[in-house]
Amino acid sequence: MTNDDFAEIAGVVRRRSGIVLTSDKAYLLETRLGPVLSRFGLASLAALGQKLRRPDEALERAVVEALTTHESSFFRDGKPFEHLTKVLPRLIASRSPGAPLRIWSAACSTGQEPYSIAMLVADTMGARKDCRVEILATDISAEILQRARQGVFTQFEVQRGLPIRSLVKHFKQDGAKWKISPELAAMVRFEERNLLNDLSSLGRFDAIFCRNVLIYFDAPTKTRVLDALARRLTPDGVLYLGGAETVLGLTDRLVPIAGERGAYGTSPQRAAA
Ligand SMILES: C[S@@+](CC[C@H](N)C(=O)[O-])C[C@H]1O[C@@H](n2cnc3c(N)ncnc32)[C@H](O)[C@@H]1O
Repeated sequence: MTNDDFAEIAGVVRRRSGIVLTSDKAYLLETRLGPVLSRFGLASLAALGQKLRRPDEALERAVVEALTTHESSFFRDGKPFEHLTKVLPRLIASRSPGAPLRIWSAACSTGQEPYSIAMLVADTMGARKDCRVEILATDISAEILQRARQGVFTQFEVQRGLPIRSLVKHFKQDGAKWKISPELAAMVRFEERNLLNDLSSLGRFDAIFCRNVLIYFDAPTKTRVLDALARRLTPDGVLYLGGAETVLGLTDRLVPIAGERGAYGTSPQRAAA
């Protein structure tokens, strides 16, 4: 593969998803694109680079799917979930009458994040009938969303971050795997969405989880996505980012919530509360 072929492949990924692949990531192409080469009858990465010089929707989509990282786990990093548990009563109280509480997992991968939110909501709100909760889970990858919708996880996956009492309460064993309960599955709606596209039709959210995806973008793309997320938050809504992500130096539409690592609000008054 020549530098030009690498640039062609990396260019497609960046244009379509925002993910930046620097030349030190060439090994990723070697390890992940094999199945794409076989599926499209291409002999090598060089042949792929050549083919991508002309627009090809199906091939470009497959390349992006193969080069996105889907690492996730239940209740990942703990803190955002503790914070959401703490602020849920305030968020519920500030809804307009009859309106649902809306939570968005904006790069949901295989579903551990939105299902963790659903477990938290079910466990915190119990039998409360006075508040409807909508959980929207989106990702750029159609293949990964299909997996997430199935709600089936391996023993290894449920052992990462999921308390045993939550496993027993919200999952059913199915051979060597675990399936999420129908009640919990019904709380989450999955939809294919690219964070680079117009998100305004999604409406506003009381809480947005956008974690461990901005790390793959360059600074202008991070700013663009953060500003778009800020516009999707209700005035007292909360945005949660991943442990290695921040808004600092990228946007002034979002401010850190004092004492809460990874949690952001849209105005200083609310953020300090
Ligand atoms: C590392 S996973 C993070 C999963 C979860 N949020 C977590 O923190 O455990 C990153 C996800 O971002 C998705 N992604 C990458 N670029 C995207 C984009 N432009 N729009 C939406 N999702 C994107 C990938 O498909 C992948 O599933």
